[in-house]
Amino acid sequence: MNRSTQRHIDKSRELQDEEAERIAELISLIEYHNRLYYTMDNPQITDAEFDELVAELKVLEAKRPELVTESSPTQKVGFSPASQFSPLRHSKAMMSLDNAFSFDELLDWARRLERYQVMGDVSFVCEPKIDGLAVSLKYVEGAYVQAATRGDGIVGENVTLNVSTISAIPKLIHFETEANSKMPKLLEVRGEVYMPINAFLELNKRQQEAGLRVFANPRNAAAGSLRQKDPKITASRELSFWAYQLGDLQPAPAFTKHSESLEFIASLGFPVSPEVRVVRGIDEVYEFCRTSQDLRHDLGYEIDGVVVKVDDLQIQQRLGFTARAPRWAIAYKFPPEQRSTKLRDIKVSIGKSGRATPFAVLEPVVVGGSTVQMATLHNQDQVVLKDLRPGDTVVVQKAGDVIPEILYPILDLRPPNSKPFTFPTHCPDCGEALTRLAGTSDTYCTNLNCPARRVQRITHFASRVAMDIEGLGEATVTLFCSLGLLNDPGDIYSLKPEMLVGLEGFAELSVANLMTAIEESKSQPLSRLLIGLAIHHLGEVGALALAGAFGDLPSLMKASESDLAALDGVGPKIAQSVVEFFASRANRALIEKLAFAGVNFTEPGYAPGVVVHKIGTSQKTDEQVLAKKTIVVTGTFEKWSRAEAKAAIRARGGKVGATVSAKTFCVVAGKNSGASKLAGAQKLGIPVIDETAFAKLLENGIW
Ligand code: IVH
Repeated sequence: MNRSTQRHIDKSRELQDEEAERIAELISLIEYHNRLYYTMDNPQITDAEFDELVAELKVLEAKRPELVTESSPTQKVGFSPASQFSPLRHSKAMMSLDNAFSFDELLDWARRLERYQVMGDVSFVCEPKIDGLAVSLKYVEGAYVQAATRGDGIVGENVTLNVSTISAIPKLIHFETEANSKMPKLLEVRGEVYMPINAFLELNKRQQEAGLRVFANPRNAAAGSLRQKDPKITASRELSFWAYQLGDLQPAPAFTKHSESLEFIASLGFPVSPEVRVVRGIDEVYEFCRTSQDLRHDLGYEIDGVVVKVDDLQIQQRLGFTARAPRWAIAYKFPPEQRSTKLRDIKVSIGKSGRATPFAVLEPVVVGGSTVQMATLHNQDQVVLKDLRPGDTVVVQKAGDVIPEILYPILDLRPPNSKPFTFPTHCPDCGEALTRLAGTSDTYCTNLNCPARRVQRITHFASRVAMDIEGLGEATVTLFCSLGLLNDPGDIYSLKPEMLVGLEGFAELSVANLMTAIEESKSQPLSRLLIGLAIHHLGEVGALALAGAFGDLPSLMKASESDLAALDGVGPKIAQSVVEFFASRANRALIEKLAFAGVNFTEPGYAPGVVVHKIGTSQKTDEQVLAKKTIVVTGTFEKWSRAEAKAAIRARGGKVGATVSAKTFCVVAGKNSGASKLAGAQKLGIPVIDETAFAKLLENGIW
């Protein structure tokens, strides 16, 4: 044997040892986390992280089949029951499900079905994958007799008494319909016990107030509540149930489809999720999974994926089971939206109104498809409530487009020397004392000249929700403030090209664009200006109500607090803060500066004496002919300034898009339109309309 071959063999032996070691390590890690999850209802890692450990183990075991043992977690279901409940053997094993973590994996599963001669567009039942705990319910002659948890799939825990407290679960079955007029001797229904999200939040509030343990998520709360020694405690918790599978039925059923068995279960009075659908072919399955992902936060209970089942029971039989799961079903898991990471630090930022908001600086982590390194902590009380400390390992959650949030610290991983976070007493930017408003959780820097506050105030004024000055974002405002070019929003209108050309990032073209955007912003409607002024408590609805009721700023400034409070959408809190705002000398000086610059102080479409701003119905005077439509505006028009055109779209319920995308309804193009917007529209087949058609669009919603 030559030396290189020997080296090669040594190397591969070394690798094999490493693999064996890692397999052993993964098994003990998975068992440890299984124990925390199933027996203690107190997990230390997120479900997604747990799934990753199992996936890694599966890959290694596939490489080294000789190392796979029967006791490996990849070969078992769940976890053996804890001792506080008596064991109950399942008549038919309660299997687990294989997971698909992407649409590709879902497709792979569908392709694997072909090996069993399952071809073409078969029917599938798509069901939400409820995040609770599986139970089996037994009925003898229609009477509830027994409930068991899944346990290790063979033996579960006897939770009959505890489950009997769940009102959604029938205790006596009524056979009313023709089809099921014969009372079965034995009936077993399987499904998921879960806790609705509102009930979970309420429960944690109560637990917190009583100084008791708070639950990490609704699943743990459901498991912790069901697995109580004292059924009275279970009864005091709001648990519910969705049925998803028929177990035993004697005499044997004559169903040919899973969907029929679900209808049967529902007809007996068991709750079956209204989201369940029968679809044809994997493309429709894909569509269901995609839409469920968008809907998951509107359901009122947590789902972590979609369970896809072959509908035809004969085909199910042909496909059979692996050691732990059926081949005829798969769980498509949503991309993880919770991750754990290190909390590096807690800092405080000063907002446009001077509000001091704590935020978390995190070790970057990918959640729900994007990297998160900061998360809001809302206010001082939230930090105290969650007892977050720098150095903690925390669980971060991201739901849709919402700002990421820290759910809780994992206390078992807290470093021994950690200290509770103390909220700063002084503004981190200007050093002035912070004041906490009586009766609220909000803390403020009251220094009007605080540099951080100034930047936020001006950035907000220029932002898309207010005066919409493209090119005047936070970084630019910070730069201009640091150079003394801006002190308040009014100074924006005193900026001159010669002050800016030559600054870093400001070539002649970008200066010209910024100047145009500033000029255009002068014709924004009064409602946008009011939003831009950052009057405490005043949001879009209030600003529209004020602008619509008074029509112009001088009239609004003359109104009394009671006049304002009487308007729909305003109320006493906003009324008081509007009056206070205009009573301040500094603010009146700002208004004068804006007037001098020629900023519009009127609301288009204002009709004297007509107050049409009913909240809850229509908030604007115009008919909402453009509701939910996104329209892109480019170029210049004869009858409209660009700001007026955008305002007119918004007044009709439409959205103004900055760039052309597949969601764009149409592009309104004036003279000198942006080439990229027109090219984008052409590429995507989006209609481009001129000023005349635009007028029709505003009137009828179509041209
Ligand atoms: S069917 C043999 N359907 O997911 C098929 N399970 O990861 C057994 N689950 O233990 C399960 N929603 O706790 C099925 N619509 C649904 C489900 C569902 C949630 C849970 C169940 C099961 C686990 C497997």
